[in-house]
Amino acid sequence: TWTTGGVIEEQLERIRAQVGEGSAICGLSGGVDSAVAAALVQRAIGDRLTCVYVNHGLMRQDESEQIEQAFGASTGGAKLVMVDAEQQFLDALAGVTDPETKRKIIGREFIRTFEQAQADILREQGVVEGDHAEATAFLVQGTLYPDVVESGGGEGAANIKSHHNVGGLPEDLSFELVEPLRALFKDEVRAVGSQLGLPEEIVWRQPFPGPGLGIRIIGEVTKERLDILRAADAIARAELTAAGLDRTIWQCPVVLLADVRSVGVQGDGRTYGHPVVLRPVTSDDAMTADWAKVPFDVLSRISTRITNEVSEINRVTLDITSKPPGTIEWE
Ligand code: XMP
Repeated sequence: TWTTGGVIEEQLERIRAQVGEGSAICGLSGGVDSAVAAALVQRAIGDRLTCVYVNHGLMRQDESEQIEQAFGASTGGAKLVMVDAEQQFLDALAGVTDPETKRKIIGREFIRTFEQAQADILREQGVVEGDHAEATAFLVQGTLYPDVVESGGGEGAANIKSHHNVGGLPEDLSFELVEPLRALFKDEVRAVGSQLGLPEEIVWRQPFPGPGLGIRIIGEVTKERLDILRAADAIARAELTAAGLDRTIWQCPVVLLADVRSVGVQGDGRTYGHPVVLRPVTSDDAMTADWAKVPFDVLSRISTRITNEVSEINRVTLDITSKPPGTIEWE
């Protein structure tokens, strides 16, 4: 039978057996999965774990700062390296519109950033290149069971999307993956996180995909479009939180239809702006989902505020599709 304590003990043993005397790095996304994975590995190998937070420029408003602040409490005091890679990711994504290509590029750039971070860590520790290279090349990922299934890793599963904490992983991966949550569903990960003493705000954080807002802009990802989406997303999240709906809904992606424009009117003037889509869903494990019946007055406030406060957006629409047939994210 499944017990949280049993899962923790079993995983600690497995991590120790896999990593041995080596050290590992963990890409921290700020979400519950990577925080719990990091906390487990930290318990298993102590300060031989270094956490790396990559600001890929695809995060939501103020998110990087919040993650840096929350981090100390969330992983039992493991080391944290912050990497600013915004320009690198934006350059790599320039001109790209295909969803799977975006995911693969984001995954590849994450790995490159981790490799660079690891080289820096080794140099700081005085390890000469080549030495210990094998023993230290472990990468911790907060991959969950649904991610495995939907990426085509599970039995008989189709490749729906290249899911991973980092997006799609490159084939020539120079790290050995440590994935202590691979058999777990989100509610089980939350139980493990609570038992490990992670703060509530991390344990109950709504899911946010590793590829971030990069897969919520339908069309090319640019800094300007990211800023527009960040502004709209911040309003939607603030209003949903104010309405007390954070635990009722699983998550509410806000999607920018960047290549679509429609005619509107504001004051005396014609506008020709972009629509955003609100995608509030309820779910138990993200394998299936239903569209959330958010009260009309809350939807109305979100719509009014977004169109008033974000000048490039002149239409707010609501996605009322369940999963299946729709997925939660649009890409
Ligand atoms: P979909 O869109 O497949 O999403 O219905 C299911 C859940 O997974 C999240 N998601 C991801 N999480 N890396 C992640 O860590 C990813 O590449 C990724 N893609 C989707 C999504 O937000 C939802 O909670």
